[in-house]
Amino acid sequence: MIVCICNRITEAEVRTAARAGATTPEGAYACQRCEVQCGCCLDYAQEVIDKELGRPRLRLVTAQAA
Ligand code: FES
Repeated sequence: MIVCICNRITEAEVRTAARAGATTPEGAYACQRCEVQCGCCLDYAQEVIDKELGRPRLRLVTAQAA
């Protein structure tokens, strides 16, 4: 499955980069000799990395004003 359309980076490539030490999408893409372009893929790429590294995904929760 493609994670990053701009760079044609697959989920498998992101997982491989995570196992090689990448902790961010930028790091994972650098392993493919690519850079972030539009940024649309960053959340999902980070999710793939976090899952591969066994890190819990932190979600931002905001309180709504009454
Ligand atoms: S889809 Fe990854 S930088 Fe655009």
